[in-house]
Amino acid sequence: MSLTADRGASAQDLFYERVAGDHLAPLWRHPEMNMMKEPRPRALPHLWRFETIRSTMMEAGRVVSATEAERRVLLLVNPGLGGVKAPVGTLAGGVQMVMPGEVAPAHRHTPTAIRFVLESKGGAFTAVDGERARMEEGDFIVTPSGLWHDHSNDGDQPILWLDGVDVPMARFFDAVFADNYPQAHHPLRRDEGDALARYGNGLLPVDWTPKGLHSPLFRYPYERSRAALAQLAKSDAADPHNGHKLAYVNPATGDHAVPTMAAFLTLLPRGFRGAPYRSTESSVYVVSEGRGKSVVGDTVVEWGPRDIFAVPNWTWVRHEPESEAVLFNYSDRAAQQKLGFFREERGAI
Ligand SMILES: [Fe+2]
Repeated sequence: MSLTADRGASAQDLFYERVAGDHLAPLWRHPEMNMMKEPRPRALPHLWRFETIRSTMMEAGRVVSATEAERRVLLLVNPGLGGVKAPVGTLAGGVQMVMPGEVAPAHRHTPTAIRFVLESKGGAFTAVDGERARMEEGDFIVTPSGLWHDHSNDGDQPILWLDGVDVPMARFFDAVFADNYPQAHHPLRRDEGDALARYGNGLLPVDWTPKGLHSPLFRYPYERSRAALAQLAKSDAADPHNGHKLAYVNPATGDHAVPTMAAFLTLLPRGFRGAPYRSTESSVYVVSEGRGKSVVGDTVVEWGPRDIFAVPNWTWVRHEPESEAVLFNYSDRAAQQKLGFFREERGAI
């Protein structure tokens, strides 16, 4: 029975019924649409053990063919997001595996992907926009929006890497497009190492102009990034909150390597006891080297090599390595900075 048929309905009830019928809503009755004093993250601090992911992936490798799976990816699912298949609210994440002899066929999509190689015994390659690059442990790889890419494994051991993708952001704008290439591999147009030679040596070809918003480099070899961190640690004191932290950047602009996601490599020196830090960014960490713990909100996350953990937005975090450790992380900071939302806070040292 509608309120209009109920003679006891008040004038206010009748008003609200009519307003709803006109597809309008009074803001004063919807506090969830109002401004909040500060962010209230839905995602929870959470750890995914690499060994669990790896053994699950191996089982998938036995029972599901590459053709059936097309891409063998185990998505990271944060327990606070009500079943949303994402490690944090604004970013997707997963671990991808390519078995020996397999190919993840060429495709392209508007969401941008970044990769951090977790396990590689050689022989695995990614191809981005017509250039092939080997994927070695600790390498950071960029797959920009709209560029054809495929992966293959010519070695005799599986390769596993972390995928970070900005799909939730692209979905927010309902701006997702994707295509499959008619062949498994997109044709190669340049030699292996071409991008690193052109853009990765502190030089740029004269009269070069950027194509798109992403870095022209698409592979950042771990040995270079690690050497940079080691040099930093030799001459600088560690930041009391963040340790020795380097951002992966677009060498042509100094901005983050891709427009939506930031990525970082951090060295925590032996004896480091990090002070608390929080920011509005949602972040996913991977342990590249070492063991230790991070206190994320009220949760103590004890980590070892290649474990993955989520640090939700506006949640205090501090890191304590057992001895020297290296952490990779990616976040939505790049997008937040461009939109003017990014904010950070440093706790007492
Ligand atoms: Fe892809």
